[in-house]
Amino acid sequence: MQPEEITPVEADQRHRTWRAVSIVVIALFAVSCYLYRVFNPNYPVVYNDIREHFKYGSIGTEPMNGVPYWIWKVLPEMFPEKLPGPGPGYASLGFLYEPGRDLPIGMARRRVYLDRVGLNCAVCHTGTLRETPSSPRRIILGMPANNLDLQAYFRFLAACVSDGRFTADNVLLAIQTHTRLDPLERLAYRAAVWETREVVLQRKQLISFMDSRPDWGPGRVDTFNPYKTVQFRFPMDHDATIGTTDLPSIWNQKPREGMQLHWDGNNTSLEERNKSAALGGGVTPVSVDLAAMKRIEDWLRDELQPPPYPYAVDDNLARQGEALYQAHCASCHAFGSAYVGKVTPIAEIGTDPHRLDSFTYEFAANMGTLFAGYPYRFTHFRKTQGYANMPLDGVWLRAPYLHNGSVPTLRDLLEPPENRPKVFYRGYDVYDSHKAGFVSDVPEENGRKYFRYDTAVPGNGNGGHLYGTKLKDAEKAALVEYMKKL
Ligand code: HEC
Ligand code: HEC
Repeated sequence: MQPEEITPVEADQRHRTWRAVSIVVIALFAVSCYLYRVFNPNYPVVYNDIREHFKYGSIGTEPMNGVPYWIWKVLPEMFPEKLPGPGPGYASLGFLYEPGRDLPIGMARRRVYLDRVGLNCAVCHTGTLRETPSSPRRIILGMPANNLDLQAYFRFLAACVSDGRFTADNVLLAIQTHTRLDPLERLAYRAAVWETREVVLQRKQLISFMDSRPDWGPGRVDTFNPYKTVQFRFPMDHDATIGTTDLPSIWNQKPREGMQLHWDGNNTSLEERNKSAALGGGVTPVSVDLAAMKRIEDWLRDELQPPPYPYAVDDNLARQGEALYQAHCASCHAFGSAYVGKVTPIAEIGTDPHRLDSFTYEFAANMGTLFAGYPYRFTHFRKTQGYANMPLDGVWLRAPYLHNGSVPTLRDLLEPPENRPKVFYRGYDVYDSHKAGFVSDVPEENGRKYFRYDTAVPGNGNGGHLYGTKLKDAEKAALVEYMKKL
């Protein structure tokens, strides 16, 4: 075949055409890159360090239950009077801020068209400790979030979006004091104000049953009742149960695999306990970020340990206490013992029954439909008839004690119920190294009010668990000394 002959003019024309096509292609590519960057549907801020990932990383709560970043930022400025104060901002609800950080621990950022923030595991499972009121606060990962009042946070969001001043114009004005949004973003934020109001009000309505039950206060949440409405739309007018529980510690999970855990021992699968926790935090089966979750699960299982007791321990006394612990407590609480990770019937343990009763048969059956169609569909939730004998590693940091957080210190737990404190304050993080627990008689500090816990309120009962209550005072002191080392 003859080679095609082209004149120099033709060649030049072809060259130009190709150049034009390439320019258009490159321009289209650049525009798509830009649009993708601006509106990329879904990607989180990523942290390589696992501790940072636990504190600030996303588990996927933002798409359905997050709040657009800038709206979340300006709410405390727009509505400071709706916060309990003193702040700044969300700190007044017990959120923990580290120096130089924009978001508090437990709040993750993910782009879902707009940047959104949502809760992660650390919000409920990171707490603080001070040696004295003037000591620096030590932040401890995996311990109960003893400061956080999550109920007050939900109520704050609902109060803000219900306020007539929560309009797109006002929100945009408030955002402008921080950043310049481009016209596209302004438009998106206008829609986001409307959407946020809808989402928050719907959630408020779903969890409105909690207004007819006693307040949680800091460090406690109703574990399963919100599931009933948020996941399954149970009508709560047929259900008067109170499911308020103290937040647990979540370190050292490996030896807990296969144990009956959660306070009532309703689930033996570590994986399901983690996934169910994520649902509680606001992920959905579709939005959950399984890879991000797995990093946390692996770390909780294999690495995170309770910190050692940081104050002086009388080793002699502790040795006497160890013998008492072996005799009276170890069979239910020590790793490897006969009853650890099993359930003690309610008639025997005698603690407040409300949390147990809130996890009903009907609800247990419905838990088995969660993640339906996925290989990890829940199959392990069971109704039990008591509370779990949980391992007591790091128990010095888990105060107040029992599933409802009704007994302020380890020493108080060794008193018969009639001698345990009837009214005390929660949310204060100064440590009482004598009684092992947090100082619980401080109603207020620097304008910050703590939560008055009344054991006479339904769900707050401090009875039961009589083990060790008949020991002599000196023996109780020894037992407490030993438990500091667990
Ligand atoms: C809204 C607060 C909240 C969030 C967020 C949360 N948890 Fe929890 N977590 C709880 C409460 C409350 C319990 C105790 C439940 C009960 O038995 O009533 C618990 C229990 C657990 C337990 C079982 C502890 C035991 O020994 O019984 C594990 C493990 C756990 N959470 C892990 C996680 C992980 C992992 C995440 C993040 C994916 C997470 N949690 C997010 C509140 C939360
Ligand atoms: C028959 C089993 C059994 C024995 C024996 C027993 N416990 Fe318990 N313990 C439990 C159960 C069940 C719970 C959970 C009860 C609840 O929260 O309502 C519990 C809870 C606790 C808690 C609260 C943990 C937390 O995170 O709030 C502490 C502390 C504790 N026990 C210490 C002791 C000590 C000390 C002894 C020995 C003097 C002892 N227990 C003996 C079954 C037992």
